[in-house]
Amino acid sequence: MTALLDSAERMSRTELEALQLERLRATLRHAYENVAHYRAAFDRAGLKPEDCRSLADLARFPFTTKADLRDNYPFGMFAVPEDRVRRIHASSGTTGRPTVVGYTGKDLETWADVVARSIRAAGGRPGHKIHVAYGYGLFTGGLGAHYGAERLGCTVIPASGGMTARQVQLIQDFRPDIIMVTPSYMLTILDEFERQGVDPRTTSLRAGIFGAEPWTEEMRREIEERFAIDAVDIYGLSEVMGPGVAQECVETKDGLHIWEDHFYPEVVDPFTGEVLPDGERGELVFTSLTKEAMPVIRYRTRDLTRLLPGTARVFRRMEKVTGRSDDLVILRGVNLFPTQVEEIVLRTPGVSPHFQLRLTREGRLDVLTVRAEARPGATAGERAAAAVSVAAAVKDGIGVSVGVEILDPETLERSVGKFRRIVDERG
Ligand code: DLL
Repeated sequence: MTALLDSAERMSRTELEALQLERLRATLRHAYENVAHYRAAFDRAGLKPEDCRSLADLARFPFTTKADLRDNYPFGMFAVPEDRVRRIHASSGTTGRPTVVGYTGKDLETWADVVARSIRAAGGRPGHKIHVAYGYGLFTGGLGAHYGAERLGCTVIPASGGMTARQVQLIQDFRPDIIMVTPSYMLTILDEFERQGVDPRTTSLRAGIFGAEPWTEEMRREIEERFAIDAVDIYGLSEVMGPGVAQECVETKDGLHIWEDHFYPEVVDPFTGEVLPDGERGELVFTSLTKEAMPVIRYRTRDLTRLLPGTARVFRRMEKVTGRSDDLVILRGVNLFPTQVEEIVLRTPGVSPHFQLRLTREGRLDVLTVRAEARPGATAGERAAAAVSVAAAVKDGIGVSVGVEILDPETLERSVGKFRRIVDERG
């Protein structure tokens, strides 16, 4: 196994931290000298890049938020002349302007390297065929996965998202070893296999690399059992790079190793911004260590997790992301994340993994209804029992009363990429 690791993966913690500090100092200098936003922000804080003498000193530097990126739309955060930018991606966001990110040729090399490393950690090897069903385009999923798979020496099937019947046919005919797709779209593909009368356990697939949205251990079990594959988690965000910021190793499946030689993580209290010790839950913050076109300093991801020591790799791990602050529903004073409901839905007999949360308002009260599909063949009695059981589990486990509707199979909207779990109809 060790022979397969690249040189950074074989470093000691001490070597890694020395490399991180050197790269961090260079990144702070690069950002300060070339991006007006960072120069102004550091000046306001009375800091110069040289004031960062240890990794801990980074905590003195100001955060960067999505709003900062929007305010500098489209290219104001770039640290190189525009003609050095080889690629642009953008994330749509739910409101207003998209967030734009840029890459130099060297950034694209780095990105391919970290995705190649991620696929290898998931069990991919040169010569494997990889079916990429993340969307291609401004979204970083498709192209990010694509070049990483090529870098590792794999054969890429650039299926992109959508046209689900064709996805099934391609998997049947081209016999890929690995699929890269959002977990929710994998469920849509699963249904299509069943509709076509093909047993999903009989495909050539041996592993899936799932990310771009939160998913739970219960969902892992569902996908692994129904496809007879290993399901591992890949994390990333456009602002920091795209997919391949962190990856779960298939041999341990114990959270995601952050590729810390390129991305420096911190976890902070989401309200005070104070840096929390490893092991404590809070908001994940990233500083890029090698990016040229668009360095990011202490970027607030809004993703909630905690940092843990490395296991299968020297790099620290992040726990599976339980949710992002944007998806938090506050219902009569109780905090609820869609992943908490996913755990319950998937543990309830007779209920399929397809569910959505509908928020409505009755008078001055917010009402949450869990809408989940019955498994095909579930009887009326089983469905009624399931509704009672989901409501009770939400009340006991999360502490709030919700409505539950168990719908006929095939009635809810299906995912073709990132799935919208919450439908807010409060107006
Ligand atoms: O979703 C990049 C990506 C593509 C990652 C394909 C993995 C696979 P954005 O569109 O910028 O980039 O969205 C980033 O998606 O801040 C998280 O909230 C969420 N996210 C991404 N991966 C995971 C994951 C891509 N494994 C935002 N678990 C992030 C939970 C994830 N949430």
